[in-house]
Amino acid sequence: MMERQAYREFKEKKSAALAGSGPAAAEKFHATGRMTARERLDLLFDEGTFEEIGCFVSHRCHDFGMNDKKVAGDGVVTGSGLIAGRLTHAYAQDFNVMGGSISEANSAKISRALDMAIEMGTPFVALNDSGGSRIQEGVSGLAGVAGIFLRNTMASGMIPQISAIMGPCAGGASYSPALTDFIIMIDKQSHMFVTGPEVIKAVTHEDVSKEELGGGLAHNSISGVAHFLARNDRDCLLLIRELLSFLPQNHLADPPRYPCRDDSARRHSGLNELIPEDPRSAYDVRELIRAVVDENYFFEIQSCYAPNIVIGFARLNGRPVGVVANQPSVLAGALDTNASRKSARFVRFCDAFNFPIITFEDVPGFLPGRQQELDGIIRDGAKLLFAYCEATVPKICVITRKAYGGAYCVMSSKHIRADYNFAYPGAEIAVMGPEGAVNIIYRRELAAAPDNSLKEQKLEEYRRQFANPYAAARLGYIDEIIMPEETRFKLITALERLADKKQKILPKKHGNMPL
Ligand code: HXC
Repeated sequence: MMERQAYREFKEKKSAALAGSGPAAAEKFHATGRMTARERLDLLFDEGTFEEIGCFVSHRCHDFGMNDKKVAGDGVVTGSGLIAGRLTHAYAQDFNVMGGSISEANSAKISRALDMAIEMGTPFVALNDSGGSRIQEGVSGLAGVAGIFLRNTMASGMIPQISAIMGPCAGGASYSPALTDFIIMIDKQSHMFVTGPEVIKAVTHEDVSKEELGGGLAHNSISGVAHFLARNDRDCLLLIRELLSFLPQNHLADPPRYPCRDDSARRHSGLNELIPEDPRSAYDVRELIRAVVDENYFFEIQSCYAPNIVIGFARLNGRPVGVVANQPSVLAGALDTNASRKSARFVRFCDAFNFPIITFEDVPGFLPGRQQELDGIIRDGAKLLFAYCEATVPKICVITRKAYGGAYCVMSSKHIRADYNFAYPGAEIAVMGPEGAVNIIYRRELAAAPDNSLKEQKLEEYRRQFANPYAAARLGYIDEIIMPEETRFKLITALERLADKKQKILPKKHGNMPL
């Protein structure tokens, strides 16, 4: 029997639409190691589960010869599918259609996918590869981009949003990824900037390459705009799948719990020796984190930026947690402006999406220095303080060594509503380190002293009084002093006790975080 004409026509149109910019463009892309938009979505989603919508949408622009430049789908693929069995909405821009530029029509597709993700309570993944707002459309293109910004903002804190930058992400369009929770860039393939090298050259006469200005490494290590650096398309897409494995569907759900094969009472005797007795010696806090968490697996975030603080996800007895840890091997773990902003944003993410926050504290204080003060360490440190104060998820803190001054208060102290505060026997909890404290309290006496013996005596006195966890434990500021080797068991037990924690902040429109 002859196939009906309507069906035949439909099949032809559909297959033309799915071919996007065509085989020649796809081949050109493949030659540079990149995948097409649909290939990317196919790899991101569980096999055969991605369902596209709007593949016949085309633009409505008549200026600049645009009537002759119509491609079904208009350069963006939108839809939904399953990732590890869980519903997720996404879009992928097709750079081969007018540079993946954002038009009125294709931004409406993106906005609709975002609306559906919000209404259905699913994560949203954006695969960006675009030259920004479609220049030929003028203000209509801008209107479309702004509509995406609005939805990113409305979705913030309701559903997890992940942006992968898989090519260019230029102009104001870069603010959409910036409004989402995590940004992944691809080394030497993706670039993000508000104004590109040519504009900079014209305005400031500065010569700067795309890579220096907005390459993956620059945004992962210097600006802190990005959170992950992938090697290529495949690495990037698999990383998104892994990131999603930690995240809940939305703010009303808990992060997914997995069966745990690792013994919850597992002791790690090596931990008793990991932290050097000499408070001036460093150690890598990631060794401590890995030793404690399930299967020694720590999924670190922003590892190249502000490495004096370490953040990331791990699991404890199968339950995902957010980990924040001072890193004594970089700047002695002191908090500077970058570390404060990095960790504040992460604490807020954890609080929005129901991750208990585990804090490993070894902090000599806020980083002293003229530049730090002038860069606004007061304001940025306050961001971290605000984030911890406001967080109502379970908060557990382990003081591994130093907990000095304002940094002690900020890093999940009892006074800002941490639930369990543990300290190792070698912990030092004080207003400041012994040297600084003695120099201030006994300045006159030390100046008049004939030799160093008075100073040694006063240092010893101060250490006895404060350089230990007992003064804080006597006041109830530390709940329990524990051996390092029992950390895993203590954390898992505390998490179990806190599983049904309910704490609310008093109703208000919103706080005024020191941004
Ligand atoms: C329309 C665009 C476009 C855009 C690229 N193209 N960007 N078309 N609008 N924004 C088209 C090109 O004309 C070209 O079409 C094709 O895409 C591929 O671009 P190339 O330049 O040949 O590719 P490449 O050399 O790889 O350079 C990519 C690029 C560059 C770095 C992205 O195209 C570029 O700088 N584009 C403009 C970036 C920019 O300034 N965007 C800001 C837009 S304003 P043909 O037909 O030749 O293949 C904006 C404001 C939003 O975004 C504000 C929101 C509040």
